Amino acid sequence: MLQGKAILLGVSGGIAAYKSAELARLFVREGCSVQVIMTRAAKKFISPLTMHGLTGRPVFSSLFNDSYRTATAHIQLAREPDLVIVAPATANILGKIRAGIADDLLSTVLTAVELGKCPVILAPSMNTTMLENPAVKENIRVLEERGFFIADPGKGDLACGETGKGRMVEPFELLEMARKILIGGKDYQNVTVLISAGPTREALDPVRFITNHSSGKMGYALARAARERGANVILVSGPTALEPPAGVIFLPVVSAEEMYAVMLDRLQEADVVIKAAAVADYRPVEVSRQKIKKAGEMQLKLVRNPDILKEIAKKKTKQFLVGFAAETENLLENAARKMEEKNLDMIVANDLGEEGAGFQVDTNIVRLLYRGGVVEEVPLMTKLRLSHLILDRIKERWKFQDR
Ligand code: CTP
Repeated sequence: MLQGKAILLGVSGGIAAYKSAELARLFVREGCSVQVIMTRAAKKFISPLTMHGLTGRPVFSSLFNDSYRTATAHIQLAREPDLVIVAPATANILGKIRAGIADDLLSTVLTAVELGKCPVILAPSMNTTMLENPAVKENIRVLEERGFFIADPGKGDLACGETGKGRMVEPFELLEMARKILIGGKDYQNVTVLISAGPTREALDPVRFITNHSSGKMGYALARAARERGANVILVSGPTALEPPAGVIFLPVVSAEEMYAVMLDRLQEADVVIKAAAVADYRPVEVSRQKIKKAGEMQLKLVRNPDILKEIAKKKTKQFLVGFAAETENLLENAARKMEEKNLDMIVANDLGEEGAGFQVDTNIVRLLYRGGVVEEVPLMTKLRLSHLILDRIKERWKFQDR
């Protein structure tokens, strides 16, 4: 099924480089064309001749010295593939990709790859202590946020004689991952998903605002998952510290009123609307043009913000509407009421008191409520996995395959 796909295999310098020879062989056997780029260090571990022999193509490794290439070959190399895999990915290459450093052929090509068009799998492989290093951990997390696929390294015996996490994922697993990304699961193709995420900020004066603890992680995970499944994604986001996933239309906003205007503006393009944003229900009646100076007691006068979901529900035509309910008490009753009041097709109920759920964290525990009083309990899982589950459920309930 992978027949005819162009794979760019980047090999950086780790012991697991010997496994990349097997990986190249597996892709060739599937009928793919495989172009290998090796770093200088990789060539200390495995010979380019092996890779040349397995792929039938000369291995590239230098920005300047491979005489058969032109000055802009790195751009061409980045445009040709259907999929890029870096296996093994060392701490060094991960750091370079994250920072945008382009100081050899592999890092330069990776800088030139357009993630929205060409997926990239990174298969980290290193000693456990290196993997646990805060800088490396952060690099992996940020790269995943940006939309790189991380082949999470396994536990086992490491080359250094220690046992722990850090073993590169086996070649057959990487092949499966590639298969899934390239041909499986594009079930949202031609579907437009409009997602709101993050908090809103309601200004008091030029330096202060009212907001909440929303990190945006749930909405961004949904945007990423929908994009991975081939959807056109419009992500309307309040201020967060996150990188928007590759390939989505990203519309940053600040206040609830701005979010309201942008969401309504894009509504008619959407087939599915998911409102994961934590919208501030109130804003100050007046925004002071100058910084408010302290005096004695102070009272803030607030006015209600528009309920974006309610307005969307009034104006919706074909859209499948999904809301979120963040609660600290009476979770199911409140969520069910919100679904009714806001005329939603489905609501994701979040118990903020539960460990591993809600704002800031990478995981969530939720209940999914559907029309007709059906409730589904969902166990603790990452926000990305939960996003895929939510998309599965939307698909089951809303027969967009008939459109
Ligand atoms: N929501 C919205 N506009 C608002 C407030 C909330 O679109 N002004 C949406 C949220 O994005 C979420 C859902 O409504 O999908 C429920 O949000 P939540 O804050 O849980 O509930 P509220 O409706 O604000 O009710 P309350 O604050 O009384 O719990």
